[in-house]
Amino acid sequence: MTTRSANEDQVPALDTMARPLRDLRISVTDRCNFRCPYCMPAELYGERHEFLPKPQILAFEEIERLARLFVEGGATKIRLTGGEPLLRAELASLVALLARIDGVADLTLTTNGVRLPEQAQELAAAGLRRVTVSLDSLDDAVFATMSGGKGRPETVLEGIEAAERAGLLPIKINCVVQRGVNDHTIVDLARFFRGSGRIVRFIEYMDVGTLNHWDSADVVSAREIVDRIDAVFPLRAAGPNYRGEVARRYVYEDGAGEIGIIASVTQPFCGDCTRARLTTDGHFVTCLFASQGTDLQTPLRAGASDDDLRALLRTTWRGRRDRYSEERAEITDRRDKLQMYRLGG
Ligand code: GTP
Ligand code: 5AD
Ligand code: SF4
Ligand code: SF4
Repeated sequence: MTTRSANEDQVPALDTMARPLRDLRISVTDRCNFRCPYCMPAELYGERHEFLPKPQILAFEEIERLARLFVEGGATKIRLTGGEPLLRAELASLVALLARIDGVADLTLTTNGVRLPEQAQELAAAGLRRVTVSLDSLDDAVFATMSGGKGRPETVLEGIEAAERAGLLPIKINCVVQRGVNDHTIVDLARFFRGSGRIVRFIEYMDVGTLNHWDSADVVSAREIVDRIDAVFPLRAAGPNYRGEVARRYVYEDGAGEIGIIASVTQPFCGDCTRARLTTDGHFVTCLFASQGTDLQTPLRAGASDDDLRALLRTTWRGRRDRYSEERAEITDRRDKLQMYRLGG
């Protein structure tokens, strides 16, 4: 008799760099009510832009089925993203389906916050644990530049308060830092949220997708971000909460809480990257900077069995060699990368 576990052949196990699959990020829509120039520039995504037609978007039952297989394969954390996930109709029903999957220890989403006042309560009741809200600046004009003229900081703050009232804690705030655009407002953002229990994470501007004309000169390094905040509010580096945590944590010396820095450009973290991504149209993508993924939608709709789908997950993950952020400096070709809003950040 062998001592192999029942589903040893079924789980994705480890990739070529011995990384397990732990996090699943699901993009539930490619639409967004913002037009952040670094993600979905307004000049390319006008009023008449054609997003994915409904039949190509995974239905909730399809997402649930795939999520179950990912969880069976090692994922313990699920994050819903977009586009803007709160634009997907009836999102709370999907949350309820996912919350019922055995083995999901963390269920969260990343949103621009605008629709949280109407939805926070319902999402929490359906089983969502917490939220991360994007907020690049508290300054009206800077915010408008970075959101493509959509929304206002005040509206996002109302969303954050609604999430807090609904108990979606801890609340994290994501701020993408672009030199010459919002870097002069990062200390204000830190000041505003200090002592509130909300954790601001500053993200180095990344070359995701192909539309943002990224230039390394526009990146403000983690070092510089920390130095600028530390000069006003002294900081001390703190260890990670869990292996592979994307944000590096810093606590305020005076006990007013913590901030995070996501240094994907200057201090890449591919070695510990345990993230799988499921696109709006059902492709399994193994890196934020990938140019393609494994199509799960076609087999799913052609009647594939769970075993067939497990085999696809397994071969995709086991063949994974991605370490884009570590290789960035050596990459000279222009890659045809997938856009961030389809991939789920
Ligand atoms: P926690 O679960 O709260 O620790 O957050 P998280 O870091 O898993 O999720 P979040 O979506 O808030 O990630 C913050 C940002 O980090 C993302 O929006 C991306 O900009 C960036 N990021 C997340 N995952 C990756 C990744 O795998 N590679 C790179 N290069 N950047 C990532
Ligand atoms: N660089 C860094 N962060 C980005 N985000 C979107 N595009 C970029 C980029 N080019 C952030 C959003 C949001 C999260 C999903 O990813 O602001 O917080
Ligand atoms: Fe929308 Fe987020 Fe992209 Fe901005 S970064 S356009 S809020 S999906
Ligand atoms: Fe993971 Fe790719 Fe990001 Fe590296 S660049 S951390 S492999 S998603």
